[in-house]
Amino acid sequence: MVKDLHLENIRREYSSLSLGRKDLPDDPFELVGKWLNQAIETQVNEPTAMIVATSTPDGYPSVRTVLLKEVLDEQFVFYSNYESRKGQQIAANPHVALTFLWHELERQIHVEGDIHRLSPEESDAYFAMRPYKSRVGARISPQSQHIPSREYIMMRFASESLRFVGREVPRPANWGGWAVVPRRIEFWQGRDSRLHDRFLYERQADGSWEIHRLAP
Ligand SMILES: Cc1cc2nc3c(=O)[nH]c(=O)nc-3n(C[C@H](O)[C@H](O)[C@H](O)COP(=O)(O)O)c2cc1C
Repeated sequence: MVKDLHLENIRREYSSLSLGRKDLPDDPFELVGKWLNQAIETQVNEPTAMIVATSTPDGYPSVRTVLLKEVLDEQFVFYSNYESRKGQQIAANPHVALTFLWHELERQIHVEGDIHRLSPEESDAYFAMRPYKSRVGARISPQSQHIPSREYIMMRFASESLRFVGREVPRPANWGGWAVVPRRIEFWQGRDSRLHDRFLYERQADGSWEIHRLAP
C-alpha cells in the first residue's frame, strides 16, 4: 500500500549569507566562478552537479543531473551520450535550462539558454582524460535504452574491457560534449523569513547583461 507522507513541518530558516546589488559584477560569469569555487572549497557534496532540463516532443519538461566539466567562453560544458533520451530531445529542441543547488550554502543558480555540441576534437580531448573504466563504460552503454538485466551491461563491459587492454580506448561517435550558451542567469541566496535575494542577469542584443532584482 502506498503510504502518505506529511512533510509540512520540515522547514528551516536560511540565514547564513546574503547577496546585495553591490556584490554583483557586470559579468555574471565572475559570480558563477565565485559561487562554484566557494561550493568546491566548502566541500559540499557534488559541487559541480547541475540539473539539465530539456523538453519532450509533446512539450513535457524532462530533467536529469549531470556534472559540469568546464565553464569556457561563457558557456557551461557537460558530457553525455548523444543518442540518450536527453540527446534526442536536444536534437529536436536546443533550448535548455540548468539548475545548480548548493544546500549547504543556501544557494542556487538557474540558467536558461541554447545548447550546441562541442567539436569532435574537443570531445576527444576530454574523453582521453577520463579514467579507463569510464571510457569503456561510455562505449558499451546504450544510455536510456531498455536493457534486459544488470548482467547484460556487465558482460558488455567485461568484453569491451578485454578488447582494449593495453590500448587506447577511442571515443565512440555517440558520446561527447555539449555547451550551454545562457540568455538568462539567476542567482538565488536564501534569507530569513523567505525574503530571499534573487538577481537576474538578462543578455542584451549587444552582448551586455542587464541586472534586475526579483521578488522572492
Ligand atoms: C550526481 C550525478 C552526476 C551525473 N553526471 C552525469 C554526466 O555528467 N553525464 C551523464 O550522461 N549522466 C550523468 N548522470 C546520470 C544522469 O542523471 C542520467 O541518468 C543520464 O544522463 C541519462 O539521462 P537521460 O535518459 O535523460 O538522457 C549523473 C547523475 C548524477 C546523480
